[in-house]
Amino acid sequence: MTISIIRQPLATVDAPWVAAGIFDKDGGPASDLRGSAVEALVVRLLEEKEIKGSAGETIALHEPVGFRTRALLLAGLGAKARFDARAAYTAGVALAKRLASKPREKVGVSLAAVLEAGDPALVSSLVEGVCVGMQGPGLHKTEPNRHPFEVVLIAPEGTTDEALADLERLAARGGIVGQAVNLARMLANTPPSEKPPVVLAEVIRKAAEEHGVDVQVWNEARIREERFGGLLGVAAGSAEPPAFVTLEYLNGGDAPVVALVGKGVTFDSGGLSLKPSASMEDMKSDMTGAAVVVASILAAARLRLPINVKGYVALTENMTGGRAMKLGDVLTMRNGKTVEVLNTDAEGRLILADALSYAAEAGPARMLDLATLTGACLVALGPKIAGLFSNDDGFARDLADSSRKVGERLWQMPLDDDFKEALKSSVADLKNVGGRWGGAITAARFLQEFTADVPWAHLDIAGPSWVDAEGAARDAGGTGCFVRTLTAYLEAAAAVDGVARD
Ligand code: BES
Ligand code: MN
Ligand code: ZN
Repeated sequence: MTISIIRQPLATVDAPWVAAGIFDKDGGPASDLRGSAVEALVVRLLEEKEIKGSAGETIALHEPVGFRTRALLLAGLGAKARFDARAAYTAGVALAKRLASKPREKVGVSLAAVLEAGDPALVSSLVEGVCVGMQGPGLHKTEPNRHPFEVVLIAPEGTTDEALADLERLAARGGIVGQAVNLARMLANTPPSEKPPVVLAEVIRKAAEEHGVDVQVWNEARIREERFGGLLGVAAGSAEPPAFVTLEYLNGGDAPVVALVGKGVTFDSGGLSLKPSASMEDMKSDMTGAAVVVASILAAARLRLPINVKGYVALTENMTGGRAMKLGDVLTMRNGKTVEVLNTDAEGRLILADALSYAAEAGPARMLDLATLTGACLVALGPKIAGLFSNDDGFARDLADSSRKVGERLWQMPLDDDFKEALKSSVADLKNVGGRWGGAITAARFLQEFTADVPWAHLDIAGPSWVDAEGAARDAGGTGCFVRTLTAYLEAAAAVDGVARD
């Protein structure tokens, strides 16, 4: 995908399609349409409520009078006073989704409205959205229904050289982050039989090596040597062996290490505690945590961030094979704790336990796991908001700040010690389910037993990782959620450490 940037009045841009942002009734059209017949038309249509200018709305105007382009796509940005990263991203997705529906060589995208409303950093969000809108979930369509185009960003004529250089950097960042989101989406959307653990591990290895990230893949024998009882227990029911992948991007000198841990269940049937068919339909995406960890580290590497980050992803299927773990079985985990398995569908916490224990052994300054962990988190927060759990208030605050900055949604949940009582087993140290109430919390509390008191946070992304039905500004399927938050978090960490180091 190519993104370039030009500085030119919109009316003279000679691309077959040009997209321009408009705000709602109060904000109206931006300076790029000023003085044109289109401006008057947009104002009238907004007044007559024929159009709303809401984020994600698109309106096509063909043969616009006074413009060289053959067609203008007006992209709604919502309220000008409330314009933020989410609105910019949403508008980008919507305009790209619409324009990529058939082959088009080149599309101009005006930056005037975004720059008028606020922070130039939102140009990155817009570009991220455009990248994401150009890629659909139709990986196996015999006729592709999405056609990526070349993006030409159009800066207002008065932009200084310095500002233009800044915009170039933001556009490049947006392209890198957008592609990382797309990688996570593509991996989640891949059919489960095409990404068994060992195959997915090799895909990760290749992508990491391409971007200069150190990568190690453990096979089943090595996983056994390393005593990952949780991962082996879950994998026992599958004909496909598990894999464990570690990634290292160490470009921060003596800066503290951030560890990212991902749940990578390539298909979750529930195991012997079998899921009903409808609940299994989207369980190819139960590896989203792993995909997001990998994609975020690759983005950090491509952005050459001066940070130290390590990734750990545990990959397995959760199946019902003849050797599958049974209810009442006891697993001995990496850190020596024993776990009685009373529901094989609570498999994510079993594989994360080993991965967290192992990650903690290296003594990172902070450790974050991402997992499509519980349906209970969807019950608590709905399908669009991730649950955040942490033993460290500063860490939780930093993650919340980063998510707010990019417009992704999370909500901090309690993690009091009494939730541990629900995990008491009469035969082992813990059981893997905590009863009917507060399921997202008891799951998180289970994970905490394997964090060795490292400052840790857990994001339950069961809701936001997946969208059932497509809309104008979103595709059905994997969302690649929190790649943008993690990238922003790692950038912020780089800035802080950069100051601390000199
Ligand atoms: N992968 C699921 C959680 C999930 C549910 C993700 C819905 C996305 C959408 C997880 O492994 C699971 O099955 N959790 C169980 C836990 C229960 C058995 C304690 C659940 O949520 O029902
Ligand atoms: Mn499960
Ligand atoms: Zn699962």
